[in-house]
Amino acid sequence: MQSLIDSFGRRIDYLRVSVIDRCNYSCFYCIPPEGANTAARSDFLSGEELARLVRLFSELGVSKVRFTGGEPLMRRDMVELAQQVADLPGIHDLSLSTNAHLLERHAMSLRSAGVSRVNISLDTLNPATFAEITRGGDLAMVLRGIDAALAAGMRPVKLNMVIMKGINEHEIEAMLDFAIERGADLRFIETMPIGAAGREGTASHYYPASKVLERVRKQCGEELIAVKGAKGAGPANYYQIGGGPVRIGVISAISRHFCEGCNRVRLTARGDLVLCLGQEDTVSLGAGLRQGWSDAELTQAILDAIARKPERHEFGEKEDVVRFRDMSTIGG
Ligand code: GTP
Ligand code: 5AD
Repeated sequence: MQSLIDSFGRRIDYLRVSVIDRCNYSCFYCIPPEGANTAARSDFLSGEELARLVRLFSELGVSKVRFTGGEPLMRRDMVELAQQVADLPGIHDLSLSTNAHLLERHAMSLRSAGVSRVNISLDTLNPATFAEITRGGDLAMVLRGIDAALAAGMRPVKLNMVIMKGINEHEIEAMLDFAIERGADLRFIETMPIGAAGREGTASHYYPASKVLERVRKQCGEELIAVKGAKGAGPANYYQIGGGPVRIGVISAISRHFCEGCNRVRLTARGDLVLCLGQEDTVSLGAGLRQGWSDAELTQAILDAIARKPERHEFGEKEDVVRFRDMSTIGG
């Protein structure tokens, strides 16, 4: 079987699929005040078209698929699409990244369709700060969404906290207590200078993962044990507190990049294949698909694209690279 090995010898087995470029929240670091640059609805690939592309990736060795957005649960056929992808024989890990606003309603059917785990954005536990960061989001709905995911048996449920100095960094300890109490994993994410965050000037909000870990250690009064061999599919480094079940992760895209272990590419709702989150290289598979390309032609286009996957992102080194890319249309 052909597989996806890039020119640096990295095996690509993880596809992030942004199923819609709209979001019902408008986090200030993700979406610019004037709104994101979204595609026309007619450019969105249908569920069948997306599932066909995912199948071709799975035939090339992709076994992990994560649905992202915008907000994936805004897509009406999300559950059906999840079912179609879960039914592909090569897919062994199906997950979703969501703001959880609509998760209470959908958790059970997603779980039944085969979405076994979710990652949920949660930057603050303060309702007013939450409404400010998300420009109008409803914290209570999100908390109910988290509970619904846990009740539906999704495991792990990972909470994503984008750490921003002066905005939510004082809540690290409270968030830790919350995660432990719920039995959810918690990841602290360094803000990346992409899109709105890049334009805002992330430097003033920068808070390094090393400082977060120091505070976690102090708060727990216990040693953090690096979790070996259980890194998860993505870029987080995980720690366990004492012998407890909850995992604490840090995603240190700025202070310590992890590109040598990169295993992923991204597909947007219009079928653009994005080869690196921090570089501009994309290939339009959607256009080929709509011009009637065969499976063999699409497969060749995927293989050619992977051969051109960039070595690494250059946040903080090469300014302006992705400042005008909207994070919300790529899905993180
Ligand atoms: P799993 O490990 O499969 O649970 O997923 P994940 O952590 O990769 O996914 P999630 O959507 O929760 O993303 C968490 C954070 O990691 C977001 O801020 C993403 O933008 C970031 N991230 C994910 N993949 C990459 C990557 O390839 N490069 C960089 N720089 N950041 C990434
Ligand atoms: N830097 C780091 N993480 C980000 N996310 C969105 N924008 C950024 C950024 N500039 C996170 C969201 C979500 C995940 C998919 O990406 O908080 O949890």
